[in-house]
Amino acid sequence: MCGIVGYTGRRQAAPILLEGLKKLEYRGYDSAGVAVLDGNALQVMKRAGSVENLSAAQAFAGSVGIGHTRWATHGAPTKENAHPHIFGRIALVHNGIIENMKALKEECLARGEKFVSETDSEVIAHLLEGYYEGDILAALKKTAARLTGSFALAVLCTEEPRKIALARRSSPLVVGRAEDGIYLASDIPAIAAKGMTIYALEEKEFALLGEGEAHFYGEDGREIEKKPLEYSIEEDVPEKRGFRHFMRKEMSEIPQSIANTQQIMHAYPQISALREVLCHAEYLHIVACGTAYHSGLCAKVAFEALARIPVEVTVASEYRYRDPIIRKNTLIVAVSQSGETADTLAAAELAKRSGATLVAVTNVRYSSLARLADFVLFTAAGREIAVAATKSFNAQLVLLYALAEELARAKGRGACGAELLSLPALAEEALSASEGVRAWTPHFLSAKSVFFLGRGADYCAALEGSLKLKEISYLPSEGYPAGELKHGTLALIEEGTPVVAILTSSRLAEKTMNAVHETYARGAKVFLVTSLPEYCKRREIVSSVLLPDCGEIFSPALSVIPLQALAYYVSVARGCDPDKPRNLAKSVTVE
Ligand code: M6R
Repeated sequence: MCGIVGYTGRRQAAPILLEGLKKLEYRGYDSAGVAVLDGNALQVMKRAGSVENLSAAQAFAGSVGIGHTRWATHGAPTKENAHPHIFGRIALVHNGIIENMKALKEECLARGEKFVSETDSEVIAHLLEGYYEGDILAALKKTAARLTGSFALAVLCTEEPRKIALARRSSPLVVGRAEDGIYLASDIPAIAAKGMTIYALEEKEFALLGEGEAHFYGEDGREIEKKPLEYSIEEDVPEKRGFRHFMRKEMSEIPQSIANTQQIMHAYPQISALREVLCHAEYLHIVACGTAYHSGLCAKVAFEALARIPVEVTVASEYRYRDPIIRKNTLIVAVSQSGETADTLAAAELAKRSGATLVAVTNVRYSSLARLADFVLFTAAGREIAVAATKSFNAQLVLLYALAEELARAKGRGACGAELLSLPALAEEALSASEGVRAWTPHFLSAKSVFFLGRGADYCAALEGSLKLKEISYLPSEGYPAGELKHGTLALIEEGTPVVAILTSSRLAEKTMNAVHETYARGAKVFLVTSLPEYCKRREIVSSVLLPDCGEIFSPALSVIPLQALAYYVSVARGCDPDKPRNLAKSVTVE
C-alpha cells in the first residue's frame, strides 16, 4: 500500500523518481507526487490518478528527491491528499497509517498551524518542522517516538539539501548504494540496478542518506553496520509479452510457476532441519490474507488427508488479535505472495514470540516475512504484477502440497509424489480447456450476484473463484459450501442467476449435484468446472469446462484456472482494468 522512492546523488533525481514510481504502482495508483530539491529550492508536483500524470516533473532540476504513489487510507484520492506533504522546511512521503493522528493534529492546530489535506501523514511533517533544530535525523527520531501505527518515511529538509532521512516501523523500506548515488524505495525492483548494494531497514531502524553514503541507526540511536542483501537483479523483467494484460500473461505462466516451485522444493537446502521440525510438529496453524488464505484452506485438505494432524487456517488479521492457543510443537505457516502483508507479518510474529516455529511461504526472496522466518519456502512464480493473484496461488498450492507430503513422510505415512509431479503438464491442459469460459461471459455481465459452489477442496476453490470475480469485475459474488445453500442463501437465487459448480470429486459429486438441482429448479443458470466427464452433459448444465484429473486433494491447483479465466474475461467485457482494480493494491502493508 503506497510506494515510496527517493534518490540523492550525482544524477538528476526526477527521472529516477518517476521510473521508480512506475515500478511501484502495484502498491497503489490513486494519486502520485514528487518533490525535488535544487539547492534549497523545493519543487513539488502532485496529481490525482496514476504516475503518468506527473510527466511534467521530468523537467525538475536537482539531484535529491522523493516520490510517492498512493493507496488512500485517510482522505480521498485527490491532489491535496497526494504526497509529498510539505510543511515549513520539510517534505515527506509516508507509507503506513498513523493511528494517533487525531491527538497529534489537535496539538498542532492548538499551535495555530494550518493543514491542507485530510491525510494522517501531513501531521508528521508538522511534528518534524516543530522538532527541527538543524539536524533532520534528530528531528525524525523525536517525531517517530510520538507516532503510533506503521510507517516507512522518507524526509527532505530544505536546510540540509543533500540529505534524505528515513525511518521504518512495520512498512518496508530498502536502500540501494550505487556508484552514482543512494537510492531508496518500498521494494527492491523499483531501484535495483547492476552493481548496486542493497540494504533493508529492519523494524524501528533509521537511516541518513547523502554525499554518496548511507548511515543506518538502531532503535537506540546508535549507528549500526548493515549486512547487504545477496540480491541479484531479476531476470524476469515484467513485460506483457504480447498479452493485453499482465493478469492473462501471468495465468499463461502457471505451468512454469508450478514446475519451478517444485524444483526449488526438491532442492531445498534446509530440508533435513525442516524434516526434524516436521517430525515433532503436532499442530499446524496457517495464517494468510485474501488469495493466500484460500491457498491455506486448500492446503488444509491435503495436510489433514495426508499427514493426519490438526490444521487451523485463520485470516491473519483475525489471528493477530485473537489470543490463539499456541501449544508446544505448533508449526506456523505464513503464506504471502509479497511477504509484506502487514497482518500476515503481525500474525507470524505473534506465533513466533509464543514459541512456534515459523515457516514462510512467499514469492519474494528478501521480503520482511522471509527475513523473519525460521524456514523460507519460495514459490518460484516470478514477479506478479497484476493485483489479482493467479500464478502465485497455484505455486503456493504446489508448495504447500509438497510440505504436506513431507509432513506425511515425517509422520511415517505414505506419500503421492507422482500425482504432484504431473501437475505442470496438467495445468497446461487446464489452461487450454479454460478458454471455454470465454463463451460464458454474456451470462455474467449484468448479474446481480454470482454463486460458486463446491464441497471439500472444491469449496476452497469456489472461494478463490468468487474472490477473483469480485476483485476485478466488481460483481457481487459468493463462494459457498454446496450443502449449506439451503440454509438461507438459496433465497437469493432468481431466474438467470449464474451459478458455477465445481465438481472434481466422484465421492462428493452427487451431493454437490443436489445443490445444483436446487438452484436449477429456481431458475439459476448453472456452469460447471469438472474433471468428471459424465456430468458435462447433464440437462441442468448450460456449459462446462472439462479438466484433467489430478486427484481430489490437489484438484484446486487446476480447478481454479477456469475460475481465474472467467473473472478475467468478465472483467474485460465489463470494461474494467483487471490489472489495476479500483480501491485495491498488490501489497497491503497497512492493517
Ligand atoms: O502478498 P499477499 O499474498 O500476502 O497478499 C494477500 C492478499 O492481499 C492478496 O492475496 C489479495 O487477496 C489478492 N489481490 C487477491 O487476488
